[in-house]
Amino acid sequence: MTTYKTQIFHIRKHNFEKILKEAASVIKNGGTVAFPTETVYGLGADALNSSAVRSIFQAKGRPADNPLIVHVFSKEQCNELVEIIPKKASILMDKFWPGPLTVIMQRKEIVPDITTGGLDTVALRMPDSKIATKLIELSGKAIAAPSANLSGKPSPTIAGHVITDLSGRIDAIIDGGPVELGVESTVIDMTTEPPAILRPGKISQQDIEGEIGPVNVAYDDKVHHGDKIVRSPGMKYTHYSPDVNVILVEGKNEDVIAKISQMLLDHGKNDEKVGLILTEESIEFFKSSKIFSLGEKDRPEKAAARIFFGLRHMDENKVDLIIVDGSFSRIGVGAAVGDRIRKAARSIIEV
Ligand code: TXA
Ligand code: MG
Repeated sequence: MTTYKTQIFHIRKHNFEKILKEAASVIKNGGTVAFPTETVYGLGADALNSSAVRSIFQAKGRPADNPLIVHVFSKEQCNELVEIIPKKASILMDKFWPGPLTVIMQRKEIVPDITTGGLDTVALRMPDSKIATKLIELSGKAIAAPSANLSGKPSPTIAGHVITDLSGRIDAIIDGGPVELGVESTVIDMTTEPPAILRPGKISQQDIEGEIGPVNVAYDDKVHHGDKIVRSPGMKYTHYSPDVNVILVEGKNEDVIAKISQMLLDHGKNDEKVGLILTEESIEFFKSSKIFSLGEKDRPEKAAARIFFGLRHMDENKVDLIIVDGSFSRIGVGAAVGDRIRKAARSIIEV
């Protein structure tokens, strides 16, 4: 594939407009620019320019049938992209935009096949990030942007992650510091009745149902395997993965601590270097040098901000195995964090 000289823009208060104008002109000219949103870093290109969108797929090594989210800076901009905005979709947009909610609707002809993975629907989102919305506005384009990682790797939460994965593969990266949330947007399909949540995020099922009534949940939110190691079912669990094996241990904090202790004994026998991703409550029980904290177990927003960072951190430390303490709260964004770790894990143990 083509080698790019990837330009890195550092955003500061005094150069905000100037940098974003430069970055916007890269988008206008059919280039690719990684930029921060409130959720994770995205890799953007003009959503209506097929060859620009093709560069996104090439840079990420993303399968062609996996559609992209199109980012807008206003609700009005959606009229260019979708046939009609259904009433319930409109209610959700008014309530949660700008913010981490992606809404799927019937696309207009003008949206190219490559952007939607050949589907006749398109996913739209207005990010709650000044850098992102300014970039979209200045470019005058709707911006297609998947998470800015190599396909299958954890989503990037700092510019450094994007540099690791995509340097030399894209035109530019805007470094706007660490993102706020750390897990990707909630995705809801509004083309079915009732609408269906396809991916959990910070905006929860309860948040959504409070506005538009019952919705379906179309992701796997309950995986019961008992107390044994099993391979995660299906291809859909091969996302968000670092290079090494990840094992998730779920249950009450004290049970998880006991289980991980036993696992460490077993793996110690084979001289394996194990990385532990723990809650603050479990840390004192382990002395391994490779420990990363997700924060207190009752503060899932902290776990959200830290999980992808932690998985990448362990990769960089060249561990042989990562064990994740899944005893953190699944309330609010905690459900989304649990979903992402399950997808990263090769096995899930419930204790
Ligand atoms: O927070 C986010 O959503 C981030 C930031 C950059 O905005 N973006 C992101 O994009 O996570 P990506 O490509 O990593 O995930 C998009 C998800 C994929 O699971 C994709 O299959 C789904 O949305 N998706 C996109 N368009 C769709 C459509 N028309 N129908 C069904 N699923 C769709
Ligand atoms: Mg992604």
